[in-house]
Amino acid sequence: MLVLGIESSCDDTAAAVVDNNDTGSVVLSSVVSSQDTLHSRYGGVVPELASRRHIEMIIPVVESALEDAGIGLGDLDAMAVTEAPGLVGSLLVGMSFIKGISFVNTMPFVGVNHILAHANAAFLVDDVGKDREGAEEAPEVPEFPFVALVVSGGHTTLLYMTDYGEYKVLGATLDDAAGEAFDKTAKVLGLGYPGGRVIDSLAKEGNRDAIPFPRALLSKESLDFSFSGIKTSVQTYIKKLHGGFDDITLRDISASFQEAVVDVLVKKAMRAMEAVNADTLVIAGGVACNSRLRVKAGEACSKADFDLYIPPPKYCSDNGAMIAALGYHKLKKGERADFSLNAKPGLKDF
Ligand code: KG4
Ligand code: ZN
Repeated sequence: MLVLGIESSCDDTAAAVVDNNDTGSVVLSSVVSSQDTLHSRYGGVVPELASRRHIEMIIPVVESALEDAGIGLGDLDAMAVTEAPGLVGSLLVGMSFIKGISFVNTMPFVGVNHILAHANAAFLVDDVGKDREGAEEAPEVPEFPFVALVVSGGHTTLLYMTDYGEYKVLGATLDDAAGEAFDKTAKVLGLGYPGGRVIDSLAKEGNRDAIPFPRALLSKESLDFSFSGIKTSVQTYIKKLHGGFDDITLRDISASFQEAVVDVLVKKAMRAMEAVNADTLVIAGGVACNSRLRVKAGEACSKADFDLYIPPPKYCSDNGAMIAALGYHKLKKGERADFSLNAKPGLKDF
């Protein structure tokens, strides 16, 4: 089933064509138009600017996705679009677009939850040189049930996944998301927006034991997260330096901050694995691009003998392929949306 996936929940306009069958979700194309430079001067996403840019970009992005996949609109079997959670004005652009296409072409479509789609990115398989006849072996994908840690700019969620789109929430952040902590700390350090990637690269040359930033592990059993305190700690630390800081200190702060966040993420994920007696962990979402998180999670999982799946960075950050792939499983179950489908911006609308 050829599915077009559209993602416009925050500040990336993304579209992808995914060919789904019993062996997996093969990505034929994935196009992402980032709005990073548009928002960087404001130190965060400006919702009104984001939705206006989505309107400008949605048609060229979809056209590129179809062209890269070597197909026309008429070759598609169905479409999927992010319906929740996200910025309402941004979500509505993708939804209105897909409704228009569906109306004109009588094409079925479904709405998809963005967080569940991130967890589902572990099932994406890259197109093998457009010659799938020759790609005999199905690449390894996780098996249900598994624990998914979804870490991005808007969410930090631990899920117990029992099937495609079937889940139980094990834990979530009580305040800032992990990516938000990276972005806010980067702002405090004068590194621009978004800050995760910059902190990651500065941290590579810093001393991660230089500053003992707090690890909010909450109570012993808790699978919830809290990241607002660490941003304040970095702020307080910088204030104490009065006259500013040199490049070495900047790298040390970045490395120590990153270590504290990653430490909590990995410890909580391991705690969740034990709590539900799982042996497979999936980590996804933009923060899963973090090089230190990838290493530390790898070490912890091999020590505990758990299988770990982290999608390649291009499928960790927002993309249309994860929407198309999860959409396929909903369509396969017979689900169809109609024109009353509406954006559900709130996080509770899973
Ligand atoms: O999943 P995503 O692309 O969008 C949301 O759904 O929010 O995640 C974006 C977040 C941003 O907060 C960004 O700073 C963070 O992912 N991020 C990283 C890295 N790359 C992106 N955080 C830490 N290390 C990275 N390498
Ligand atoms: Zn996301």
